[in-house]
This record gives sequence, C-alpha cells and structure tokens, in this order.
Amino acid sequence: MGALRTIGQTAYYGAWLLKGLLGFKKALVNTMIITYDCNLRCQHCHIAESIDQIPLPHSISYADAVEDMRSSYERGARVLFFEGGEPTHWKDGERNLLDLIKAGREIGYFVTGYTTNGTNVFYLESDTISVSLDGPREVHDAIRCPGTFDKLMANLEKVDHPNVFANMVVMPENKHLIRETAQIIKDSKKINGIMINFLTPPPESKMLTLEEKRKVVDEIIALKKEGYPILNSKKALKELLMEDYSERCPFWASEFVLPDRSKHFGCPMKGEACKRCGFNAVREYSLITRVSFTTILSMAGRFALSTK
Ligand SMILES: C[S@@+](CC[C@H](N)C(=O)[O-])C[C@H]1O[C@@H](n2cnc3c(N)ncnc32)[C@H](O)[C@@H]1O
Ligand code: SF4
Repeated sequence: MGALRTIGQTAYYGAWLLKGLLGFKKALVNTMIITYDCNLRCQHCHIAESIDQIPLPHSISYADAVEDMRSSYERGARVLFFEGGEPTHWKDGERNLLDLIKAGREIGYFVTGYTTNGTNVFYLESDTISVSLDGPREVHDAIRCPGTFDKLMANLEKVDHPNVFANMVVMPENKHLIRETAQIIKDSKKINGIMINFLTPPPESKMLTLEEKRKVVDEIIALKKEGYPILNSKKALKELLMEDYSERCPFWASEFVLPDRSKHFGCPMKGEACKRCGFNAVREYSLITRVSFTTILSMAGRFALSTK
C-alpha cells in the first residue's frame, strides 16, 4: 500500500512537471493563511507589524476553508500548507488545526504541512512541521519574545515526529550565528534539518546588504559540506543571491488563500517584494520546475510524499 501510494504520487508529480514544461501551468501547492492572529509580535514579521491595519476577518471559517481546499484540489493542487499568523491558534468553535489537516487528507491532498512558532501545541498528524528558529536562545528570544526558545524546545521534547524541520530568517541580529544555529539542529533529536532564508521586506531595517548575504551563503555552503543538516539545495542558495527574483519565480506553482477568502494565484506579496525576495522555498520551486534533479530529490522526501 505504501509503495503503491508513493508510485501514484510520484507519477502525479511527474505529469505535473511535464505539463508545466509544455505550458499547462497549474498550482501544485495550496498555501492557506488561515489566520493572521498570533500570540507573538516578532520584530521581522510584516503581518505582526500591520495586524491593526488588516481588515477583519482575521481568520477563515472551517466551512470556507474546506470549500477552498476542495476547489484548489479540483484545480490540481496536491500539497496543502497552513500558514499564519500562528496556525496552531486557529479555531472555529470546537474546530482546530487538526480538523483542517484531517479534512485536507480526506479531500485527497498527498501531503499537509504547517509552520509554527512552536509555543503552542503540535499537531503531529501533519506530514511536515516547520518550526521557526531564528538563532540560539538569546537572539531567538530577542527577535521573537522572551521565553520562546525554551518553550519551543520544551514542547518539542514532548513530541515524536519524523519530519520536523526548522525555518530560519537571517537578519542583522543573527547573521553571525548561522553555525551556532545549525549546531543546535545537528544536536537536536527532534528537528532534522534547517532551511535558511533571507528576509523579504518589510521591515527595511532588517535587510542585509548583498555583500553580507554573500558571506552568509558561503558559510551555509561550507556547513553543508561539513555535514550539517542544511535543507537548502546548493543551487537554491546561489539563487538566493539573485535578489530580484521576479523573472524566475514560478508564481503559478502555489495558490494562496487568505483569511478573507481572497485567492492569489502566486505569492500574495507579488510586486515590489519580488525585487528583494528572500524566500528559499521559491528558489527550490523554481529549480524543480526547471527539472533540477538534485533539488527534486532533496525536496521530494520531505515535502512531497505522504509520511502518514
Ligand atoms: C509568518 S510566519 C507564520 C508561522 C508562525 N507564526 C511562525 O512564526 O513560524 C512563517 C515564517 O515566515 C517568517 N517570516 C516572518 N516575516 C518574514 C519576512 N519579512 N521575511 C521572511 N520571512 C519572514 C517567520 O520567521 C516564519 O518562519
Ligand atoms: S510567530 Fe510567526 S506570525 Fe507570529 S509574529 Fe512571529 S513570525 Fe509573525
């Protein structure tokens, strides 16, 4: 059953890739920002920064989310990611993120995932869990909130999941702490890799210069060679230095649904943000659509195939 399912999913991805190359471009990923609400106010977070100006509703309802999951699936999406705000704080009456994960699986999505600050509960039914880690305790807490590092680590101690990885955003506060952060992951029995990103503005104050980014990328490549569990592919790391990614961004690969149910076929930040995009995942998507086999192989096991 497991092998057959993997073959079926791989065939679907292969057909999607081929159709894309032939010009039939459809989203494979449905990214749902289910709530803007969050218990933290991280220094670099554009959502936290503008939360008071964002019109209501700040969360999608369960019924609307399921309807949007279904329509996106019918258009071809098979990978479902929940984002926020803090997705583990999403609620609709008695419903929580677990209900959305279950609904996504029942609809037929191959893989579900979400990103979390790790201070609340973990929903282990998700195939992939991305936890934000912006450095060792002192710096992580300065960027996020005092006590969040210890809370994240204590919560992780309680869980057993094969596919938890860390998401780091590099900014002036932590640019000199890449090795130390990668060491935390290497030593961790709970987190099995780290994906490193640069900031996408706003805020401007947290942007690195291109020269600073170059040094960071060189260091990450060296760490990869030394065997640190860095998830960024080497090619994607080099493309992180192409700050204006508007030409290469495969906008069509992911749909986005926002809490007010507005739909974006491509990144909702599309526009000015593309000129200084720091998201590593965008480089990986782009390399996949350009049939980079090393990227496909390094990403597939973590983000594309069911683990549940
Ligand atoms: C918006 S958060 C939502 C999930 C959850 N609240 C968390 O912090 O993990 C998703 C990821 O985006 C990152 N992020 C926030 N602001 C960013 C920015 N301006 N540029 C790049 N990444 C950013 C966060 O650090 C986090 O890893
Ligand atoms: S925890 Fe996530 S959503 Fe909340 S403020 Fe921090 S980065 Fe933004």
